[in-house]
Amino acid sequence: MAILSYLLIGDETDLAQRSTTQARRGQLQVAVKRDGDENPTQVYSELVANRLAQFLGLPVAMGVAAQNISDTTVSRFASLWVADQNTRIFDFTEATPDHEAPAAPIGAYNETGLYWQFKRLCERYPLEAAQLAVFDLWIGNEDRDLNIKGQLEENKEIEPNVLFALDQGNSLFSCGINPKESISKLMSNTFPSFHPMAGMLGAFECGEMVERINAIPDWAMLSAIVFGVQIGSVIPDRQYELYDVLDERRKLLRELVQRVLLTPPRCEK
Ligand SMILES: Nc1ncnc2c1ncn2[C@@H]1O[C@H](COP(=O)(O)OP(=O)(O)O)[C@@H](O)[C@H]1O
Ligand SMILES: [Mg+2]
Repeated sequence: MAILSYLLIGDETDLAQRSTTQARRGQLQVAVKRDGDENPTQVYSELVANRLAQFLGLPVAMGVAAQNISDTTVSRFASLWVADQNTRIFDFTEATPDHEAPAAPIGAYNETGLYWQFKRLCERYPLEAAQLAVFDLWIGNEDRDLNIKGQLEENKEIEPNVLFALDQGNSLFSCGINPKESISKLMSNTFPSFHPMAGMLGAFECGEMVERINAIPDWAMLSAIVFGVQIGSVIPDRQYELYDVLDERRKLLRELVQRVLLTPPRCEK
């Protein structure tokens, strides 16, 4: 898998301080995300999901907390823009369905009409796809179908292996219409009810990811979830609450994987 690298823009200029290694001051392109009426806990949810993903070694575009020079608190999440312009990457975030393609199997999830592309993605990246899908179940992310990009060209010798996910903004405290509903969804073993990679993943790969998540040490989960300061609109007490819920929820993952990812869809006659 190619290492994800991020897009430098503009000119590099001198650093204010003397550098012994020719380090320069540069700028990375980012997608800046903020809390709003439609998603009042997006900044915190993005940040936590990203820190957990990085700890787990998942191919997720890295993001960081960001603030304006005039802000006194963290008010933005900056998703570092992946420098993918030289690869012929399939962009699920922009793609339109191919109406010539054969129909998806009956009962399969195909909301975006990209069923076959998801299938190709899972065949080409069985491990990474399973890791992302299991992670989505853990953080309660129902938004993966529109938030992933990957190299799907057939010729592996020529085309680099590139796959990355982005936008976890509708997970964790933002998986429901408000934090209260989100917490009750995360405590439930019937949520989520679907995933675009359902029926396309290996049991072994999914099982390994369940184990990996259950092996995260408490200190690592705490440091990814609880900050001790308010992040966007989320105060520290709520951050502890999320830690407890995610700790409990990881014990439900085996069952969730079985039901959502590994059970073939029931055919509607
Ligand atoms: N880090 C990134 N690297 C590359 N493309 C990105 C990145 N972040 C966002 N994008 C692009 O911008 C679009 C909108 O960003 P996203 O985080 O999905 O916002 P929204 O919450 O509005 O869906 C994405 O669908 C994707 O095409
Ligand atoms: Mg999105």
